[in-house]
Amino acid sequence: MATEPSSGSAVAGYVRRYNRKTRWFHAVSYTILVVLFGTGWWLTLGNEGRPSILARVSGVPDTRIHTLTGWVSAAVAVVGLLAGRRALRTFLDESVRSDPGDLEWFRRWPVAVLTGRFPPHRGHFDPGQRLFNLAIAVCLLVVIASGVGLAWLSGGSLFTVLVRVHRWGTYVGTALILGHVTIASGILPGYRGAWKSMHLGGRLPVQVARRLWPSSTSSSLRGNRSNEGSGQRDQGKDRPS
Ligand code: HEM
Ligand code: HEM
Repeated sequence: MATEPSSGSAVAGYVRRYNRKTRWFHAVSYTILVVLFGTGWWLTLGNEGRPSILARVSGVPDTRIHTLTGWVSAAVAVVGLLAGRRALRTFLDESVRSDPGDLEWFRRWPVAVLTGRFPPHRGHFDPGQRLFNLAIAVCLLVVIASGVGLAWLSGGSLFTVLVRVHRWGTYVGTALILGHVTIASGILPGYRGAWKSMHLGGRLPVQVARRLWPSSTSSSLRGNRSNEGSGQRDQGKDRPS
């Protein structure tokens, strides 16, 4: 993996929650998914005979763009699951957990998104992210698996069932992703600045990190200080990498 500068310190004023590999994986995945969700919605709204802007620019019909991008997404998913086994395990460990105080976090969340006064929580992800991570992972698996089935079959009762599963997966996935982007983009006052943790070098200002992920930020900064003390460069505090 390419070496990055230190993953942040109190002096530099930022922390880095994700390494470069993870940030690129996230960006490539969402570019592919935007095409899939866009062409998928186009088709399901009955526009099959009408070329979208993407189809007009590329000269390739929407159904073909959709299926080809679908195969790319299936390949990225398989390679990602195999090559990123360790990252996947950390992602699951950090997502499948509950701590005392999580319910209180959910109770105060609707006000906190406006005021920025989030109740404390433990771990790399807040309780809302943990739920989102599991829901979107299941949803994408379902949509990709049913899509592969559709691309393989050419009709029959299984095809009809898969179309329905594929369509419902699209509805649920769209709602989840719209929620995620609303939160992560920082439109809501409480989440201002959050987008920086995944983009443009992943440098998240310490005050934003402390507001949103207090416990993991403290341990990350403690880790940096002890590494500086022992003369080591810190590259490994990017849980879940
Ligand atoms: C992951 C995100 C995906 C989303 C959101 C999505 C969404 C959709 C939607 C909404 C439709 C239209 C269904 C209908 O109402 O008739 C569709 C059709 C289809 N999808 Fe996907 N899909 C995804 C992934 C895939 C994958 C991974 C494949 C295959 C490798 C695939 C293959 C197909 C095929 C073959 C059709 C039928 C196209 C046709 O009418 O010829 N999709 N998809
Ligand atoms: C198809 C679209 C997308 C999917 C499936 C997706 C999925 C994920 C997942 C699973 C995570 C892990 C942590 C979490 O739950 O927050 C994540 C993190 C993140 N995503 Fe996305 N994402 C998508 C699009 C976007 C877009 C368009 C943005 C732009 C604002 C974005 C910004 C972020 C940020 C800033 C984080 C890091 C939050 C943190 O520091 O923990 N995502 N995304």
